Amino acid sequence: MAAKESETIIKLKSITKRYGFGDAESFALHNFDLTVKRGEFIMIMGPSGCGKTTLLNVIGLLDKPTSGSYQLQGKNVARISARRKARFRAKEIGFIFQNFNLIPNLTVIDNVCLPLLYSGVRKTRRLKMADTILERFHLREREYYMPHQLSGGQQQRVAIARSLISNPSIILADEPTGNLDSRASHIVMEELRDIHALGNTIIMVTHNPALTTYATRVIHMLDGEIDTDIKTVDDRDLPRPGDPERISVRILPKKDNQIEIAVDAKTNVVVTGKNVTTKDEKKTDKKSKKDDKKSKKAIKVEDESKKEEK
Ligand SMILES: Nc1ncnc2c1ncn2[C@@H]1O[C@H](COP(=O)(O)OP(=O)(O)O)[C@@H](O)[C@H]1O
Ligand SMILES: [Mg+2]
Repeated sequence: MAAKESETIIKLKSITKRYGFGDAESFALHNFDLTVKRGEFIMIMGPSGCGKTTLLNVIGLLDKPTSGSYQLQGKNVARISARRKARFRAKEIGFIFQNFNLIPNLTVIDNVCLPLLYSGVRKTRRLKMADTILERFHLREREYYMPHQLSGGQQQRVAIARSLISNPSIILADEPTGNLDSRASHIVMEELRDIHALGNTIIMVTHNPALTTYATRVIHMLDGEIDTDIKTVDDRDLPRPGDPERISVRILPKKDNQIEIAVDAKTNVVVTGKNVTTKDEKKTDKKSKKDDKKSKKAIKVEDESKKEEK
């Protein structure tokens, strides 16, 4: 099956960010090229000062590069007005920071509502949406707490809920687990993994090599440039928006065919798939679904019957 290639969402070409002039001149980014496909989960690593935060700020339209070109969803960012950039940022980009950046004198639910203010959503609807997303993060009982009454892990989950409330397509996270212990980090990473499985694009900076197992691509930076860039998932296997979490289901030999089936991870409902099976096969099918879920990997299975058709 010739799966569609994922669309290019971010394209940086020869991006340079310079600070200072003359003797004081330094480059936070230097001739930086990067193409990001929709659905990638990229982890950026590298020593302090190598330009990771600058890169996220440029991608997130918070900072302008000194030179180079940036295409965001096919549009040249240099040609977009400041006002449209702000609107785009509010709608399409979610930021998550190391120190959570919650507003200390606002309740949890008011913090989560914040991005919707900029998109002009009415108050009752804002609260309803925040309530829904906080429930998903198991933070509903904490809605009227102040941020300081929460643990670090809870604060970061509030920050993630806030970054997601306007349903952005790109999530930029700058060391989101940097201030968390390993258990809280793990919970936060599980959330990010779920978000990624729904088809979101995530670019995350981390110092923790153990977290790179969540990524589909790992980039090491050095002195404002890419040092290494390794994809662990092929572009055609990236999750897409609206895609259920894909789990491989092996349908045992009838005519020796294997079929790719998509299973909605929440409801366990098979939503696509061909030649669906007899009862006995369904049983095996369910079991392998469970096994696959444990391994938490979306693996594609070759559709042999389709190959033969070609
Ligand atoms: N506002 C600024 N003025 C001057 N230099 C800066 C500024 N912001 C960042 N830099 C410099 O740019 C380089 C990259 O910074 P940064 O992107 O924050 O690195 P990282 O996030 O990888 O630690 C560093 O050398 C830093 O000192
Ligand atoms: Mg940084």
